[in-house]
Amino acid sequence: YSLKDHNTFGIDAKAKYFFEFTEVEDLAVFFRSNKSWREEKLIVLGEGSNILFMNDFDGLVIHPKVPGIFPVHEDRQNVWIEAGAGESWDELVEYCVTYGLGGVENLSLIPGKVGAAPVQNIGAYGQEVCAVVEKVKGFDLEKEEIAEFSANECRFAYRDSIFKSYLKNRFIITSVVFRLEKFPEFKLGYGDLEAKVKEKGDVSLHTIREAVIEIRSSKLPDVKELGNAGSFFKNPVVEASLAERLKTEFETLPVYPAGEGKAKLAAGWLIEQTGWKGVREGNVGVHEKQALVLVNHGNATGKEVWDFSEKIKRSVHEKFGVELEREVNCI
Ligand code: EPU
Repeated sequence: YSLKDHNTFGIDAKAKYFFEFTEVEDLAVFFRSNKSWREEKLIVLGEGSNILFMNDFDGLVIHPKVPGIFPVHEDRQNVWIEAGAGESWDELVEYCVTYGLGGVENLSLIPGKVGAAPVQNIGAYGQEVCAVVEKVKGFDLEKEEIAEFSANECRFAYRDSIFKSYLKNRFIITSVVFRLEKFPEFKLGYGDLEAKVKEKGDVSLHTIREAVIEIRSSKLPDVKELGNAGSFFKNPVVEASLAERLKTEFETLPVYPAGEGKAKLAAGWLIEQTGWKGVREGNVGVHEKQALVLVNHGNATGKEVWDFSEKIKRSVHEKFGVELEREVNCI
């Protein structure tokens, strides 16, 4: 089964088995009916917007298509919205903005499905999805039962959660309940967001969404034109002392607070400084407007992308002594 249309890098990898479902009961029946599925290697693939296939996948791909976006509860401050794992993330954001519900507007235009959002705790422009997740529902393969996790149990961190670690390939998310704000406090502190919003008019969920869409579209390549998986690396979290030392040598280095004794650096900046921005080698390259994004210029294989990313890691390490970590799932 070809996965070319199931990953935004556009890598032509093949899967041994492919199973899609629209209801959690179908998923339960599928796994209970034939125990041997549990012996297969397994991945869950939504839109495939954060994945790099290095080889064909010799196992079972699960593709959740659970539909639906609907309110489940409300009080004076909040509305709780449940969304199926198969819904497009950005359509959920649009829905919330349309109904005047705040908490996800800065996350406009992030590619991928709702079910993937909690896995890597998607974030942008000062918002992270963990702030609005009430619970995550799905199917536990080990226990063979439907289960749910509160936000606390999800162990959210920067681009991380329990679904990427302890529950990896064991828990299949089927829907997420979000707690949204009727009277949101807008978050405009990141970069040039505030200025962009004000160009659009009064500050509102709508103008924030429009501004974010404009900023993202100007920096990030459209996957329909140029295969990519967003930021390829994480912004590295380093010892504050190292950040300080680097800052004396490289004055323009962007440094963000990252908790006690730690600092977060901008990987895009580090990569740009090593001279890789806009560079193309064969089928692979670094995006010309955002150095954190690797792109497939044509028929790149996963291996080519990987090897290219190794070179970038090496350059950054040589120049800054900083180890970049991949943000994209490499399979
Ligand atoms: N920068 C450069 N050169 C570049 C890219 C960035 O010097 O080529 C500098 C910028 O000037 C800025 C800093 O690095 O000072 C940060 O850049 P930017 O605001 O573009 O954000 P980022 O840190 O590169 C992160 C997320 C993005 C998210 C943006 C906006 C990660 C790994 N990436 O990128 O998320 O959209 O912030 O909030 O945290 C993703 O995860 O796939 C993703 C796109």
